[in-house]
Amino acid sequence: MTGYYDMHTHILPGVDDGARDLQETMEMLYQAYLEGIRHIVVTPHFALDSRNMPVRELMDKFEEVKRVALHTVPAMDFSLGNELMNSTGMVNALNEGRALTLGGTSYILVEFLPKDSYRKIYASLHNYIMNGYIPIVAHVERYDALIRRTDRMDELINIGVLFQMNTNSLVGGKRRRNVSYHRMLLEEGYIHLLGSDCHRSDSRSPLMRGALQDLPGELLNSGAMQAVLAENPKKILADKYI
Ligand SMILES: [Fe+2]
Repeated sequence: MTGYYDMHTHILPGVDDGARDLQETMEMLYQAYLEGIRHIVVTPHFALDSRNMPVRELMDKFEEVKRVALHTVPAMDFSLGNELMNSTGMVNALNEGRALTLGGTSYILVEFLPKDSYRKIYASLHNYIMNGYIPIVAHVERYDALIRRTDRMDELINIGVLFQMNTNSLVGGKRRRNVSYHRMLLEEGYIHLLGSDCHRSDSRSPLMRGALQDLPGELLNSGAMQAVLAENPKKILADKYI
């Protein structure tokens, strides 16, 4: 299968800790193409306590990448957003257009610190929702407060939160305890989206097919997986509820 969506990437050249220059961006795009990815959601980091590239410049870079990509990977589609580091004031930054939602929709990709408390995570996500945004928690498998706490994930799903998992969290063989736990989360419908969270062409590179090919056939062909790979990304980018 091709036509995968990569919902979390750092491919814009010289913007964050992702691609260092346009050549690396193009290498990553080609790698993504070989992984079967055909739609890349570009999500450079945005943190209120850092220097962020102004949206206008970000958009210029995004357009430049799309233009050059026409020659290397003409079948690729792109959307622009941010990976937002959760903090007080982020809603204002979104409302004022200094920080970006995913492809101009109501959906936002939000990351937390690994040690953030559940209380803080819950309150922050609730606040985004109360302000009209639909939060997708980036690499949900990373937070101490949510690891092996599907009860908490249930609670968050019930208020409208979605979860993204990194594809490299599915790799490593069945014997790695975390990998089987991550697969269980997928199987049980706790994961709504996958992303490679790619940063470089030589390490943390775009990974999709390589992570999926080892999954058991039952899981790959399940309804939950079809939703994760195709239906959910389409609905999100069309700003529809999933
Ligand atoms: Fe990221």
